[in-house]
Amino acid sequence: MKVLVTGGAGYIGSHAVRELILAGHQVIVLDDLSQGHRRAVHPDAIFIRGSTSNPEMLARTMGLYGIEAVMHFAAHIEVAESVAHPKKYYQNNLSNTLNLLQAMVDLKIRKLVFSSTAAVYGEPQTELLEEDHPRSPLNPYGRSKMMSEMVIEDFCKSYGMHATVLRYFNVAGATPSAVIGEDHRPETHLIPKILKAALTSNPEVKIYGTDYPTFDGTCVRDYVHVVDLARAHVCALEGLNNGISGTFNIGSEKGFSVRQVIQSCEKITGKKLIVKEEGRRPGDPAILVASSQKTEKVLGWERLYPDLDTIIKHAWQWHSSHPEGYADILPEQEFQFYQIS
Ligand code: UFG
Repeated sequence: MKVLVTGGAGYIGSHAVRELILAGHQVIVLDDLSQGHRRAVHPDAIFIRGSTSNPEMLARTMGLYGIEAVMHFAAHIEVAESVAHPKKYYQNNLSNTLNLLQAMVDLKIRKLVFSSTAAVYGEPQTELLEEDHPRSPLNPYGRSKMMSEMVIEDFCKSYGMHATVLRYFNVAGATPSAVIGEDHRPETHLIPKILKAALTSNPEVKIYGTDYPTFDGTCVRDYVHVVDLARAHVCALEGLNNGISGTFNIGSEKGFSVRQVIQSCEKITGKKLIVKEEGRRPGDPAILVASSQKTEKVLGWERLYPDLDTIIKHAWQWHSSHPEGYADILPEQEFQFYQIS
């Protein structure tokens, strides 16, 4: 299929592009490179530098390439930033999603895979979050995604669209060959922050909050390997082609506390970390752990890398071989780099 991938130069988008190409799809990446990296995009994908804020360009691109399905990754993703700058989040995550949906309706493109988040649930009322758990986000990031989900639901009802919404839990890791990986600037996520600290002479890590109602007082999260998440997008697209749509969690059914993640990073890197305990970060729920039963049963999703140590090992292989992220790849190596992956 001809698939438009917005945000395909970003961390998760670039891994999904790679899996789509491995599965035989034709991929057109649209990314404004505000967060993404040109070098993260698989060379077999067509790359267009552009933003979802531009409705005319969206429609022109979709028409020009005969797009049959859209995967929409382009979004801002930081909880704390969304608390400080909500407008930025509603503009990009909600308003630009509306632009994209409008262009899809105009061009009669009916298949959408949408990147949503566990942040839509808010504070869980059950141990494992199932997809029908009430949505009650604690921060503007989660609300911008919840509102987008609602708009998509309405578009599906009224305009005959078919959408699969994937709610990501905490994504980490890199391709096992370290060909692509995580390079956010600034980095705010726990695992890459720890691993980048481990590469320095002052390996200091901060714990945001030690008074949460969890077994060790630190937040508990459900970590999923980025390659497994990327493969879930291929399953979602196949599902849409077979008449299956809906909302699915992408998690692992296991929670790890911040302290446990730090311990695992120490084990994998062999570095002793200096841990500083700080106050809570605004907008953080205490525990987020997914039920992934529905995704496995209905979409046939299987995880290749379910354990946390493997996720951290792959992330470490990427960070230790690319301490400066994509800036470490020389332009002349880019193509060859991918050829051997
Ligand atoms: N944390 C620290 N120290 C750090 C960084 C993070 O203690 O230096 C803590 C956070 O407070 C949180 C946990 O580690 O409790 C995980 O934080 P991340 O920033 O890695 O991830 P989040 O849980 O905030 O958010 C991520 C994605 C969201 C998604 C969410 C779903 O960024 O898009 O997972 O679980 F919604």
